[in-house]
Amino acid sequence: MNRETPPQFEKVVIGRTTILVKDKYRDPILSQKDAFSEKTKERKLFPGVSLLKGRNLIPCIPIKGSQERMIIKHYEHGGLFRKITKDILWGSSRPFRELVILETASQRGIPVPEVLAARVEKILGPFYKGEIVYKEIPDSTNLLDYLKGLNRRTTEEKISLKRQIIDSLAEAIKKMHTSGIYHADLNVKNLLIRDTGKGIQVYLLDFDCSRITKNVSLKARIKNLARLNRSCEKWRAQVTDRDKLRFFLSYFKGNRLVEANLRKYVRRCAHFHLVHRIYWKFFG
Ligand SMILES: Nc1ncnc2c1ncn2[C@@H]1O[C@H](COP(=O)(O)OP(=O)(O)O)[C@@H](O)[C@H]1O
Ligand SMILES: [Mg+2]
Repeated sequence: MNRETPPQFEKVVIGRTTILVKDKYRDPILSQKDAFSEKTKERKLFPGVSLLKGRNLIPCIPIKGSQERMIIKHYEHGGLFRKITKDILWGSSRPFRELVILETASQRGIPVPEVLAARVEKILGPFYKGEIVYKEIPDSTNLLDYLKGLNRRTTEEKISLKRQIIDSLAEAIKKMHTSGIYHADLNVKNLLIRDTGKGIQVYLLDFDCSRITKNVSLKARIKNLARLNRSCEKWRAQVTDRDKLRFFLSYFKGNRLVEANLRKYVRRCAHFHLVHRIYWKFFG
């Protein structure tokens, strides 16, 4: 077994292509391996294909012989290289790394989608193209879209759902950090909400370029949370300052250092406002 192949996965080599596939899904995935082709985005090629919106369109297709569906994400460069090299990657295999992180996260009890396979196709030397396959979480929406949809609910429903989401997300993200996983792109579209009508389930998505370490430092955690906060502002997510405070308190619950500093900070703010109120009363 290869160092990169986690238990329950099999390594299949076909010419210049290597596929790590979950044993349970081996046959349906290998028999549908044409779906890895970029052309799957053209709806006609696969009966029942639907397209999800990420950085690109991501095909989601029925898994042969089951009611479940799989999502096949083709990797591309981000940033500056995106226009130049597009989907030609180099160095160590991003699809296999993400597969290992997702498997580890799942074993550590973090709510993530089940990873079914990853594929790397060598082109020349260190250059390759690749994909990852996740199991679709049915009836789910990313947090940004879910929050938009809440406008149709009554105020009470909205408050109650938001509270459940904030507390569940804070717990999931805290668990990810305490388990030693640093997310490379924690943002409001990489959080998935499944509203079953009986309760809310949350999932963390998109672990491309993320890292497993012994310990995620406080600085790194804050960096993750600050990125999430920035994404809320950038995409105008419907979250209030009160929501953010609730999340922050929920995430840091039980952290004596932060709680003590927070108390000090709140006291200082209260004192500051008291001084201001007195000033306004007499001189305002
Ligand atoms: N396992 C899944 N089940 C259901 N929807 C998903 C799943 N994975 C991703 N999505 C949807 O697809 C979108 C893009 O997925 P993501 O992995 O973040 O791709 P990208 O790298 O393009 O950002 C997410 O915002 C979410 O709406
Ligand atoms: Mg994403």
